Amino acid sequence: MDHKTIKDKLTFVKTDKLIVSLLGVAVLLLTGFIFYDYYTPEWKQYQSEFRDLVEEKLGPERAAVAPSGLQQVYVKELNKADRCITCHQGVEWKGLENAPEPFRTHPKEILEKHPIAQFGCTSCHGGQGYATDMQPAHGLVEHWEEPMLGKELGDFYVLSDKKALMQMNCNTCHRYDKETKGAGYINRAKQLVHDKGCRACHVINGRGGTVGPDLTWEGDKSAEQFNYERIKGFHSEFTWHTAHFKNPKESVAETVMPNFNFSSMDAQSLSMLVMSWKKTNLPIEYIPNHNVRDIPTPAEIEKEKQMSEGPGAFFVKKNCFVCHSVSTLEIDAAAQIGPDLAFAVEDVQSRFGRTLDDFLMRPTGTMEVVLSTMITLTEEERKEAIEKLRHAYELKKQERESKK
Ligand code: HEC
Ligand code: HEC
Ligand code: HEC
Ligand code: HEC
Ligand code: HEC
Repeated sequence: MDHKTIKDKLTFVKTDKLIVSLLGVAVLLLTGFIFYDYYTPEWKQYQSEFRDLVEEKLGPERAAVAPSGLQQVYVKELNKADRCITCHQGVEWKGLENAPEPFRTHPKEILEKHPIAQFGCTSCHGGQGYATDMQPAHGLVEHWEEPMLGKELGDFYVLSDKKALMQMNCNTCHRYDKETKGAGYINRAKQLVHDKGCRACHVINGRGGTVGPDLTWEGDKSAEQFNYERIKGFHSEFTWHTAHFKNPKESVAETVMPNFNFSSMDAQSLSMLVMSWKKTNLPIEYIPNHNVRDIPTPAEIEKEKQMSEGPGAFFVKKNCFVCHSVSTLEIDAAAQIGPDLAFAVEDVQSRFGRTLDDFLMRPTGTMEVVLSTMITLTEEERKEAIEKLRHAYELKKQERESKK
């Protein structure tokens, strides 16, 4: 070994040492930074931005009183501790109406009717109240069943009003309202339930027929309880209901639920409505109109009384009038689900190729379900129905003759 190579080696070891120690310092700094980042929660960053924003817009005195540290609204009655205001600090401040989120002043009118101290945030918005990072708080994470009903989810379900999903939560409290200002989709759906006569086949709030399942607590069913074999795309309760409303037979081949030819928006509105029908353990003062419930209007009661004393009384007594008018016997259907029975004699013949007698003795389709689940008729009563329908048809023929 000559002198030169030893010297070379020594200098090499020296630079080696330098590099190693520099690397050591770098690793230390990096770990420090990772720890710092890890232990500095997102919300601290938002709070410091909030203070800067307030200082810029409203002056240093206001900035000095901006709260710092974890913030929460605790509502004992609802058993909620919502920490959303840790980031959404501007909710109740004046003058931040145009600030970016999460700092913007909250739309005012809705909070006047629902003070934050009594309602928190998640009773309307959904989300995970006690979480303090954005993703978990907004609830778009696994194992959280109530994601925030906001823009992201609205986008996902292709709603034309991206923020409309929140109306589901409005209606868990407002279910007994005929109409709720600010819940347009739900109001539309309530109108459809009335106009289309869903109650002919479904019990809703304790009133209605039993051909289909009771819908009073439909919103408590979980996504796993539906059959998705025939549903295209993403599988969720919302997509199941929307597809089912658009065409019941496509989801449930043997169903007797009619296809009402709903538009996408109507189908979505109805999905939101039926999903809002959840049991809650809210104190009664949180449920507006809880004492009104769903009782028939005086006009409805009067009309039923009139019909039940007229020539078509049989069809009222036996609840046929829920779905059928019998025009010549002065029976008006509560909902036009089935055809006007004044034509039944000729109509059954032309539609089913059978006599009315044969049809009512051995019904098929919807009437088979109706007469085996909802209405029981003895053989005598079936004969009575046939006789009455013949009479109704005679009157119809006379009516036609006299018009000629
Ligand atoms: C860690 C901070 C943080 C927390 C905690 C937080 N948010 Fe947000 N939020 C944000 C930020 C940032 C935005 C704006 C960026 C965005 O929309 O993704 C936002 C946007 C929103 C929006 C508007 C966007 C939309 O999807 O409609 C709503 C509503 C909202 N938050 C509600 C809540 C509710 C309710 C809670 C409590 C359950 C909550 N946030 C908790 C940071 C937070
Ligand atoms: C009574 C129901 C209700 C309560 C309680 C409520 N909000 Fe809202 N919030 C609304 C409505 C309604 C809107 C307006 C949505 C729209 O523009 O369509 C809204 C809007 C917002 C927005 C703006 C969203 C956007 O898309 O522009 C944020 C953020 C927000 N709320 C956060 C909160 C926070 C945080 C709390 C609790 C301190 C809270 N809200 C409490 C009903 C409520
Ligand atoms: C936790 C239950 C609850 C939720 C959720 C809720 N509300 Fe309310 N709301 C109430 C109560 C209770 C009242 C007060 C009713 C009264 O004074 O008779 C009320 C009052 C109202 C009023 C005023 C009614 C009137 O006759 O003056 C409107 C409008 C309203 N809510 C709309 C909404 C909308 C829109 C939402 C969803 C964004 C919503 N509410 C969410 C319980 C709730
Ligand atoms: C002629 C009777 C009939 C009418 C009218 C009717 N349905 Fe149905 N509905 C059924 C039957 C039967 C089922 C069960 C089979 C199925 O899922 O289609 C059903 C199922 C449903 C379901 C799914 C329930 C579940 O959990 O599986 C919903 C939701 C529903 N109907 C809502 C409505 C609404 C809203 C209306 C009015 C727009 C309506 N129905 C009108 C007979 C009817
Ligand atoms: C829940 C709603 C519902 C009730 C209640 C109901 N029906 Fe029907 N009914 C229908 C529907 C829907 C049809 C159409 C059948 C089809 O297209 O399969 C129908 C068809 C008929 C037909 C054939 C009419 C035609 O013109 O083709 C007769 C007859 C009939 N029903 C008699 C009755 C009688 C009698 C009662 C009472 C004992 C009754 N229905 C109760 C829904 C109902």
